[in-house]
Amino acid sequence: MDRFEIIKGDLTLQKVDAIVNAANNSLLGGGGVDGAIHRAAGPGLLEECRGLNGCRTGEAKITMGYNLPAAWVIHTVGPVWQGGDNQEEKLLAQCYKNSLELAVKNGIKTVAFPSISTGAYRFPLYRAAEIVVGEIKSFLEADRILEKVYMVCFDETTYQAYKRLI
Ligand code: APR
Repeated sequence: MDRFEIIKGDLTLQKVDAIVNAANNSLLGGGGVDGAIHRAAGPGLLEECRGLNGCRTGEAKITMGYNLPAAWVIHTVGPVWQGGDNQEEKLLAQCYKNSLELAVKNGIKTVAFPSISTGAYRFPLYRAAEIVVGEIKSFLEADRILEKVYMVCFDETTYQAYKRLI
């Protein structure tokens, strides 16, 4: 599992081929990591997002990275936690799977994720970490193209929730 690493930091500073944005269905920006990415990328990112016609929950779409160190941004929309009976776990797993598939399709070798849905969308952090680690591990078992996948945690609690599983 040396191709999957948990780190603490700011996703917008990562020098990887692609960072993954925890967006909303409009793809027109927001708060949290979405807001940080748009601030760091500059107005060109929003311009390109306008042309994408939104994104369904669990799906992923790709744009350039503009002023970010990353060349690409993969936008995905995580589920809002509604108690767990609305396919939230399946949709969260799909966010990571679809983002990684889109990365491979675009010849991307290094990808950095935030902890999707565990902020404003209130997905329980420890449950999310289990789903995410399982999903990324199984993807990497079947894939030989990707060189490195990072989970970039913005705070210590999130970092420990993922680190304990590796
Ligand atoms: N780098 C890495 N992680 C970050 C950063 C950053 N710069 N900023 C925030 N985070 C972390 C949060 O601490 C949390 O762990 O990203 C994780 C996801 O939190 P949110 O950004 O709130 O995303 P989410 O829970 O998926 O909610 C998405 O919030 O920002 C809006 O437009 C977005 O409506 C959408 C919703």
